Order: sequence, then C-alpha cells, then structure tokens
Amino acid sequence: MHRICVATGDAGNSATAILRDPRLMAYVFAEPYLLLQPELVFVAEWRGTVFGYAVAALNSAEFYARWQLEWAPRFAGSHPASRRVDPHDADDELRSCLHHPRRMLSIDLDAYPSHLHINLLARARGQGVGRRLLDAVFTDLARAGSPGVQLGVRASNTGAQEFYRATGMTRLPSDGGLAVRFGRPLNTSRAPVRENGPSVRHGPR
Ligand SMILES: CC(C)(COP(=O)(O)OP(=O)(O)OC[C@H]1O[C@@H](n2cnc3c(N)ncnc32)[C@H](O)[C@@H]1OP(=O)(O)O)[C@@H](O)C(=O)NCCC(=O)NCCS
Repeated sequence: MHRICVATGDAGNSATAILRDPRLMAYVFAEPYLLLQPELVFVAEWRGTVFGYAVAALNSAEFYARWQLEWAPRFAGSHPASRRVDPHDADDELRSCLHHPRRMLSIDLDAYPSHLHINLLARARGQGVGRRLLDAVFTDLARAGSPGVQLGVRASNTGAQEFYRATGMTRLPSDGGLAVRFGRPLNTSRAPVRENGPSVRHGPR
C-alpha cells in the first residue's frame, strides 16, 4: 500500500516528482488507516500481488484524534513539523498534516462523518476494480452505522471526479479548501451489494 500510494499520489502519477520525501504521501494517506482502522482497509490483488486499495475512517473526527495520539508521535524525530508551513511546499504541507491531522477535517460531519481514499496502479485502472473497492467500503461503512461518506479530490483530477460520479457520489459545497468535495449518503437498508469474487478483500487480518 505504501508503494502504491507513492506511485499514484499525485492525482494518479508518482509523488516522487512533487515531494523531496515521497514517503510522506503514504505516511498521511495510507499507513495510518492500517494502524487505526484496519477493518476498513481493502486491497485489490491478483495472484498475490496487490495493485490497488481503498481505505476509510468511520468517524473522521475520532479518527484524527486517535491519529494525533497514536500515529503522529512516531514522526517526532524523523519528520518533525515545520515551525512555519510554506503552502507552496508540498513536503511542508504533508508534514503539517502528519502532526496536525485535524487540518484535514472537513465540514458536514453530521451527514458525512466518514471519509475514504482510493488508489490503483495505472495498469489496473478502467476494469471495474475501483468500483468494487468502493462498493466494499460503502457496504462496510453502512453496516457499521455511518450515515454518509465524503472525500476531497484535486480540482485538476477530473478523471477521479468522473469515477466518483459514476459510483453514486455527488459534489458537495466547498469547505473553503482547494479540494473538490464529493459525498454519498449511506443507507443501511439500501447499501450497495458487493459482488462475489476473490480479487477484493480486507487488507490486514
Ligand atoms: C480513480 C480510480 C480509483 C478509478 O478506479 P478504476 O478502477 O479505474 O474505475 P472503474 O473501472 O471501476 O470505473 C468505474 C466507473 O467510473 C468511470 N471512470 C473511472 N475512471 C474514469 C476516468 N478517468 N474518466 C471518466 N470516467 C471514469 C468508469 O467509466 C466507470 O463508469 P461505468 O461503470 O459507468 O462505465 C483510479 O483510476 C485511480 O486509482 N486513479 C489514480 C489515483 C486517484 O486519482 N485516486 C483518487 C484520488 S481522490
């Protein structure tokens, strides 16, 4: 998951071009989910090789509070927060998110308390895998009692925005940040049906 996150973290392209330390991408957008919410980590695999994943937090506010206590301290020595964050410096921004995760908390948390991230390697895209991963996330979030899930996507990432529309998400009003927001109410009685098949499974056991 770390490898895939780094390889796709710049709107589907490698984060190595935009970060001095590309590992930061995975430290913020992939690995904390394995530690804090492993039951909502899904991977797509073929013959034992993982080529994509989706991760989610059931309750974003609680998730970031735990992150602050359980995840951020691990980076105090290796990736300390900058005293002053340069908004044009992607490394600075991610280090700030690592140490102050509530910066990533959006609005409309009563209706959409959950959030998710999804990333597939380029060779795995366009074959319905993303849809199956999201169906798995939607189903398990609904089963866990979430009324809705939201996410932020870069304005320039129009392909991902089309994907979210195709998977039943709708655009939400801006929260004042740079990202375009999408959300989807989750109705426990009408949760999307997960297809049978071996290629999408929970990540950690
Ligand atoms: C966005 C992403 C997860 C989509 O996964 P995918 O497996 O390629 O999507 P699927 O094949 O399941 O497509 C599902 C639907 O979305 C549509 N869709 C997917 N990608 C699309 C694109 N780039 N442009 C237009 N529509 C798209 C498909 O046409 C399909 O619609 P249909 O079922 O009505 O035909 C994947 O492309 C990806 O990982 N991209 C790079 C990382 C990224 O941008 N992540 C999101 C960051 S917010």
